Amino acid sequence: MNVQFAERAKDSKQPIIRVIDALSRSDPDFLAFGEGNPALEALPQKAIHDIAEEITRNYPDEILLYTNNGGDAEFKDVIMKRLREVRGIDTAGNDMLIITGGQQGLYLLPRIFTNDGDRVITEEITYAGMIDTIRGFRGETVGIRLEEDGPDPDHLEHLLKTTDRVSFIYLIPTFSNPTGITTSVEKRKAIYELACRYDKIIVEDDPYSDLRYEGEDVPTIKSMDTEHRVVYLGTFSKTIAAGLRVGFIMAEPEIIRIATNNKAAIDSNTPCLNQLICRNFMRDYDFEENVRNIVRINKAKWRAARDGFDKYLPEGWKLYDAKGGLFCYVRSPEGVDEDAFQQCCYKHKVAFSPSSSFSADGLAHGGYRMAFTPNTVEQITEGCRRFGEAAKEFS
Ligand SMILES: Cc1ncc(COP(=O)(O)O)c(C=O)c1O
Repeated sequence: MNVQFAERAKDSKQPIIRVIDALSRSDPDFLAFGEGNPALEALPQKAIHDIAEEITRNYPDEILLYTNNGGDAEFKDVIMKRLREVRGIDTAGNDMLIITGGQQGLYLLPRIFTNDGDRVITEEITYAGMIDTIRGFRGETVGIRLEEDGPDPDHLEHLLKTTDRVSFIYLIPTFSNPTGITTSVEKRKAIYELACRYDKIIVEDDPYSDLRYEGEDVPTIKSMDTEHRVVYLGTFSKTIAAGLRVGFIMAEPEIIRIATNNKAAIDSNTPCLNQLICRNFMRDYDFEENVRNIVRINKAKWRAARDGFDKYLPEGWKLYDAKGGLFCYVRSPEGVDEDAFQQCCYKHKVAFSPSSSFSADGLAHGGYRMAFTPNTVEQITEGCRRFGEAAKEFS
């Protein structure tokens, strides 16, 4: 049979985290730090189980039927209330769509904003899940130069001046995936002002703000959004359960209306049972205590990773400063071939995700992301040691 795949599908590659996963399953001694799963032991398992039982009892019909495309109204109110109280976001003038994991937002937003050949401006190293969907819609990613405190606003301005057909700006300002970088408040303000001046939408993807291990919170760009040009994306994957696949988009009503109609063509609605589990958990349980518990467990692992890299990284290798989130990011010295180093890591039975999966220009930039939370403290320390051994071979 001659199968004709669409242009947008033909170039799709197996995500690197799946390759790493397969390696680790074929060898019990292999240490995989690919997939950004939350720490299972930190998730509110008993509460989820109890709530699921209660919902099955109280809403036996609703959970078996289609529901509205936009999501449960009370759930949206509960989320908005928390965004006001905890994130200082003025939700007035915004509407919300419940989505099937944050990833659905990363699919929906290019779908509604990006035409063939359009550009999306992102941090030069950014989340693979967004890069892949933009490319799938035949768009192009253009990277803003990254500094230790976030993307360089001067470079963003240069890109805005010189790039045609920019459909939106995509940012992960807090504990970015993969770099862990947090954009400073000054840069957030400067970037927001540029978006206003050049009349661009900012998509602020914020899965990690709750997971801070050190330092003070930085205000979201959405909290500065007097012009309603920030589309704010959230998920419960890291604070309730990734497997439930529940997230949200908050934006001005016209964007939400178009996104909702487009979602209808994708999966009609986010599963009712999963929405109600998250709703009841946020409404009836102590969500903030749950977040504190996750932070406490993750923090011990984060510290183990940082101590491990301090001890085992050879001269010239640089650990980025991430004060929260799920990732540590290490840069090699100039001239280290990323593919060759990755193979060497495999030889040492350890694997991180390399920068080529996360780069706006699709090239390798000599960076490696360690997703530390699914592993134990001992495995993390050993993973850093093995990575360090591999690095020594390239130093
Ligand atoms: C920056 C970023 N955005 C979105 C997502 C997708 O989250 P979800 O698991 O809710 O689909 C992730 C997941 O790791 C992420 O790191």
